[in-house]
Amino acid sequence: MRPLRDPGADVTAEELVRGLRLAAGGRGGRPRVVAIMIASVDGRATVEGGSTKLGHREDRALLRGLRAAADCLLAGTGTIGAEGYARLLDADQRAAREAAGRPAHPLVATLTRSGEVPWETPVFSEAGVRKQVYSGVPVTAPAGVTDTTVEVIPGAGARAALEHLHAAHGIRSVACEGGPGLLRALLADDLVDDLLLTLAPLLVGGEGPTSLSGPALEGPPRMGLHDVLRADDHLFLHYTR
Ligand SMILES: NC(=O)c1ccc[n+]([C@@H]2O[C@H](COP(=O)([O-])OP(=O)(O)OC[C@H]3O[C@@H](n4cnc5c(N)ncnc54)[C@H](OP(=O)(O)O)[C@@H]3O)[C@@H](O)[C@H]2O)c1
Repeated sequence: MRPLRDPGADVTAEELVRGLRLAAGGRGGRPRVVAIMIASVDGRATVEGGSTKLGHREDRALLRGLRAAADCLLAGTGTIGAEGYARLLDADQRAAREAAGRPAHPLVATLTRSGEVPWETPVFSEAGVRKQVYSGVPVTAPAGVTDTTVEVIPGAGARAALEHLHAAHGIRSVACEGGPGLLRALLADDLVDDLLLTLAPLLVGGEGPTSLSGPALEGPPRMGLHDVLRADDHLFLHYTR
């Protein structure tokens, strides 16, 4: 075992995201996929129904920095609804993207097999934020929903959705913000290139979701530990495929 005490210089969230070199893109006709999650010491992904109380300002900076760098933000319908997605980037991040000739916001993509989309979530009525819904069944966006296209993909398969993002939207990098159901689907299909897992110094217990839900993964898949950082008592773990 090695101690974590490293006299090296501090790394900012911005530097960590830059080090991912997202612009390099993915492989096999799909974008690069970086998954990001936060969990308590005992693996819980929520406190009182959301992830906010697990957070730290550096974790917020990492999440927003990853969003700002990626071409696309992918989240399951459960996460978009539960976390009340809205105002995904700060003003300076939007300005920096535009100055670089990119859209102010990443494309926001989600998947649903049932066609149940949390349309009432504010992001769906934010003008100028493009949304792409992959649904297993035909769905129609209700009035008030803006800049949203729906693509029907049988079974709402994650691989097919990523391939479509690449082919139809030119997406090279995806920040996947979970949740536990979608992250499991991506891992089951070997679609996660990097996992940024923040460990919050809380012991939560109870029946809330853990980082992954659903049936046990075959193998199980194993990732390499690329980096470990800390901010106060939060640990930032970077795993790679
Ligand atoms: N700690 C964290 O970092 C973090 C991050 C994100 C979310 N969360 C928390 O996680 C909870 C939400 O969990 P969740 O599992 O419902 O969220 P989720 O993974 O965001 O959404 C799950 C939904 O995605 C849809 N889906 C479409 N294709 C799928 C596929 N191939 N495999 C699995 N799901 C697919 C399903 O909808 P259909 O049933 O319509 O198919 C499913 O119900 C919330 O409490 C949220 O706060 C925590």
